[in-house]
Amino acid sequence: MLPEQQDILWTFVSLMCVVFSMYAFISVILNCREHEGANMKLWGTIFAAGVLINLALTNHMFDLNQVEQLGFVGWQMLAILGTLLIWGVFYKNEGIEDQSPPIIRAAFFYVTISILLAGYTNWLPQQRSDPPPVGGAEISDDITMDQYAEMGRIIVFGAKAVAGTKAIGKGQCPLCHTFDPGDNIGRCPNLFGVEERSHARIKEDRYLNEPIRIGETDGATQIVKGKPDQVPEEYRRADAGDDLVGEDYLRESLMCPSCYVVKGYGKTGDKVSPMPVISKPPISLSPIELNSVLAWLQSKDTPGDFASVTIPLPTGGGEIAETDEEDEDRPIFVTGTESIEEIVNTLGCPLCHTIPGIPGAVGELGPKLHEKINAPQRIKNPNYKGKARNGREYVRESILNPSAYVVFNEEEGEPFPDGLMPQDFANKLSVNALEKLVDFISNTQPEG
Ligand code: HEC
Ligand code: HEC
Repeated sequence: MLPEQQDILWTFVSLMCVVFSMYAFISVILNCREHEGANMKLWGTIFAAGVLINLALTNHMFDLNQVEQLGFVGWQMLAILGTLLIWGVFYKNEGIEDQSPPIIRAAFFYVTISILLAGYTNWLPQQRSDPPPVGGAEISDDITMDQYAEMGRIIVFGAKAVAGTKAIGKGQCPLCHTFDPGDNIGRCPNLFGVEERSHARIKEDRYLNEPIRIGETDGATQIVKGKPDQVPEEYRRADAGDDLVGEDYLRESLMCPSCYVVKGYGKTGDKVSPMPVISKPPISLSPIELNSVLAWLQSKDTPGDFASVTIPLPTGGGEIAETDEEDEDRPIFVTGTESIEEIVNTLGCPLCHTIPGIPGAVGELGPKLHEKINAPQRIKNPNYKGKARNGREYVRESILNPSAYVVFNEEEGEPFPDGLMPQDFANKLSVNALEKLVDFISNTQPEG
C-alpha cells in the first residue's frame, strides 16, 4: 500500500467514528422527543460529549504518522464502544423496543463503511500510477539540455516528493549528500560548488598520488584512475583522449569512489570511500542516467544556465528503456510482502550499514549491524536515554527515531554522525514491514 493510502485509511476510519457518534447523538435526541419523560438534557449532554471526544481524537489523528495512527486508533475504538454501551443503557432505561438496538445499527453502519472503503482503496493505486510528467522513458532526438539535466535532478531527488519525507530518487544521493551552501550533515561532502571543484581536484597533488596514483587500477571497480580513455566503453566520454577534465573527475567520483577520497571523509586514513559505486548494484545507473546526473551536477548551481555543462546530449531514442522508469516516480515504500533482502535494499540500509546475511551490504557510514549483541548492550549504557527495554525495542527505536541514541564509533574514537541516518523511515514502511525488519535486524550477529 502507498503511504498516503495508509494515512488516509486511519484518518478515514477516525472520521467515520465522528460521523457515527453524531448519528448516535441525533438518534438519542429524536427518541427523547418521542418518549415523554425522557431526560433530554442529561442524555443530550452525554452524547454531545461523545461527539466532542471523538472530534478531539480525530483532530489528534491528523497530527500522527502512520505507525502512531495505528496505535492510536485503539483509543477511538474504545470511545465508540463506550458510546455503544451508554446507548444500550439509554434504550433499556427508556424502554425502547420498537427499534433495532444500537449494536445492530452500529454493525450495519460499519459494514457499509467497510464496503465503501474497499472500493475506494481498490481505486486509489490505479489513479496514482499515472505516467510521470517529466523524466519519462523516452529520450527523443530533440531533447534539450534543460530537459536532460532535469532528468538527472529527478534521478537524484525523485519526481514526487511525499509529504514528510526527504526528497530522494533512484540515485539515493540525498541519503548522504546535501546540496545547499551551509547545509552539512557531516560524513559526506556538501555538493554545492562541485562543478567548480571538479576542475581544481584533478590538479591537486592528492589527486595525483592518493590513495592510488594516476594510471593505477582500483581493486574494487577495476577502473584505471585518471584515464578517461580507459573508462568502460558504454560510460566513456565521447571524445575521451589522454587529457583529464572536470567532467572526468565527476564521472570517476560516481564510478570509482575510492579512486580519490575527499579529505576527512574516508575510512582507514582516507584510503577507502564509503560512497557506493553508482554504476553498480544496488543503484546501477545506466550510462545515460549517470550522464544526466553529471549534467545536473554541472548546472545545478547556475539555474537556467548550462554553459558549464560539458556532457553531450544523448543521441538516439530507446536507450533509456534498459532502466526501470517506474522506480523514478514512485515514492519509496515497502509493504512487508517483500523478502527481507528486498526491504533492506529498497530502504537503502546497505549503503550505510554492513549487515550480516544481506549480500553486498558492506556500507561503512554507520555501525555494523550486529544487533543481537549490540542492542542489549546499548540500553545498558549509562548514556542511553531512549525508551527501549529490550533488544527488539531498541532496534525499532533506532529505525524510527535514530537520534534517540547516537552510537559511539570505537574505531574512530568519536560518536557516529547524528542526523545522517534518515529520520523518516516511519513514512516508508508499513507496520508489517517494520515488524519484519525489526525481527531480522535484532537477530543479526557477526558471521562465522
Ligand atoms: C552512502 C552515502 C553516499 C551516497 C548514497 C552517495 N555518496 Fe557521494 N560521497 C559520499 C562520501 C562519503 C564522499 C566522500 C568520499 C569520497 O571522496 O568518495 C562522496 C563524494 C562524492 C563526490 C566528490 C565530491 C568532491 O567534493 O570531490 C561526488 C561528486 C559525489 N559524491 C556525488 C554523488 C552522487 C551524484 C550521488 C548519487 C548518484 C552520490 N554521491 C551518492 C557518500 C555518498
Ligand atoms: C545515510 C546512512 C544510513 C542509512 C541509509 C541507514 N542508517 Fe542506520 N545508522 C546510520 C548511522 C550514522 C548510525 C549511527 C548514529 C546513530 O546511532 O544515530 C545508524 C544507527 C543504526 C542503528 C543502531 C545500531 C547500533 O548498533 O546501535 C540501527 C539498528 C540502524 N541504524 C538500522 C538501520 C536500518 C534498518 C536502516 C534501513 C532501514 C538504516 N539503519 C539506514 C546511518 C544510516
